[in-house]
Amino acid sequence: MKILMVCLGNICRSPMAEGIMKNKVEKHDLDVEVDSAGFEAFHEGNRPDRRGMATLKKYGIDISNQRSRLFNLNDFNTFDHIYVMDGMNHADVMSVARNEDDKKKVNFILNKIFPGENRHVPDPYYGSGDGFERVYEMLDKACDVIVNELKTK
Ligand code: 4NP
Repeated sequence: MKILMVCLGNICRSPMAEGIMKNKVEKHDLDVEVDSAGFEAFHEGNRPDRRGMATLKKYGIDISNQRSRLFNLNDFNTFDHIYVMDGMNHADVMSVARNEDDKKKVNFILNKIFPGENRHVPDPYYGSGDGFERVYEMLDKACDVIVNELKTK
C-alpha cells in the first residue's frame, strides 16, 4: 500500500500528515509507504515549516529530513491513495488526473473522520497561534482511521 499526502506548498500540512502517518505505520508494523507533495514550487527543496517541525517534535516525530517536492503525473501510477488537505488541492490533483482510475485515488483526508463532508485542513502558513497544533490534532485523528482500515484489510 502506498499513500501520498498533498497540500499546496508541501511545507506545512502534507509534510505533517506524512510524518504522522509514517509514525503510526511504524508503531503498527504495517507494510505501507508514505510520501507527500505539493503544487506550488515556491518552497521546492526546502525543509518543512519550522512551526510544523516543532509541533511534531512534541509528539516524538521528526520530519526534518523531508524536502518539499512537486506533485507529478507519475504519482498517480505509484500511489494507491492520494489524500488532499483542502478544496484547492483537490481541484489541483483532479485537474491533472488522466482517467477515472486516477480520480478514484483522490480523497479529502478529513473525509476519514467526517465522511462525505469534504472538510478542509486550514492552511496554517499565514496564521499565528495554535494553527499548527490544530492541524496536528485533525491529521492525527484522520490517520488513526486510515491505520484502522489498513489493519482490518
Ligand atoms: P501548505 O502551506 O500548503 O500546508 O504547505 C503553504 C505554505 C506556503 C505557501 C502556501 C501554502 N506559499 O504559497 O508559500
